[in-house]
Order: sequence, then C-alpha cells, then structure tokens
Amino acid sequence: MKELVMIIRPEKLEDVKAILDEIHCGGMTLSTVMGCGTQKGTVMEGAVNEIKGFKTTINLLPKVKVEVVVEDKVVEDVITKIRETCATDNVGDGKIFIKNVEDAIRIRTGERGVKGL
Ligand SMILES: Nc1ncnc2c1ncn2[C@@H]1O[C@H](COP(=O)(O)OP(=O)(O)OP(=O)(O)O)[C@@H](O)[C@H]1O
Ligand SMILES: [Mg+2]
Repeated sequence: MKELVMIIRPEKLEDVKAILDEIHCGGMTLSTVMGCGTQKGTVMEGAVNEIKGFKTTINLLPKVKVEVVVEDKVVEDVITKIRETCATDNVGDGKIFIKNVEDAIRIRTGERGVKGL
C-alpha cells in the first residue's frame, strides 16, 4: 500500500475526487493548507504574506492537501489521471508525494491490509 499526498489547486478538488471514486478508494483525508513551491519569492496573484497574524517573506498560496492510501497497483494510474486533469501548464499545479504504508486497520471490524482500506 502507498499513501499519496496530493497538494492541488482548490478548484481541482472535484476532478481529483472523481478520479478517486473511479478507483473505488476507501476514503480520503483532506485539509486546506497554505504553501509555496519553487516560486516562494515571486509575488503571485492570490498570495498572502501573513500566517496566523505573523508576517513572512514567503508568498503563500491556498492549496488543498488530499491524503489517500491505495493499493500499489493503482498508483501509476492515479498519477497519470491526476496529471491529465490538474496540469494547467502554469506554475503552482501542485505535487504528489508517495509514501510506503505498513498496514491499515479498519477499527470497526479489525480488517487489515488492503481489506482495511
Ligand atoms: N518540496 C515540497 N515539500 C512540501 N510541499 C511542497 C513542496 N513543493 C511544493 N509543495 C506544496 O505544493 C504546492 C504547490 O507547489 P508548486 O506546484 O508551486 O511546486 P513547484 O515546485 O513550484 O512547481 P511549479 O514550478 O510547477 O510551480 C505548494 O504551495 C506547497 O504547498
Ligand atoms: Mg510553484
């Protein structure tokens, strides 16, 4: 199993949800985040320079972070589909980070591994 941590443009969330539905993923965790990539010094439209009242020289943009644990065999398919829908040719399209996941347990039933997803 792999965890995909996908940081995307907020307006792409519905497309990403549709992709995850297609692969019948068990669930997902979502957070609204602020972040920057390589253009951290560049003033971008919508960027803010303050976080929780503290000033920063980083130009922060609102993004959505989607965390989803999936079977290994669907990972490449998800990456391809996410790129197809989320790549706009502009900077700031986001990133996907991939981590190994040791185990998963559905608390209600005790099912483990892929069955626990
Ligand atoms: N190395 C990183 N570590 C953690 N989070 C990152 C990293 N790179 C990007 N992010 C997150 O992803 C969001 C989008 O990054 P972004 O797409 O701007 O990356 P980039 O490397 O600057 O690529 P591009 O040049 O296409 O803009 C950032 O706002 C930040 O939340
Ligand atoms: Mg960037």
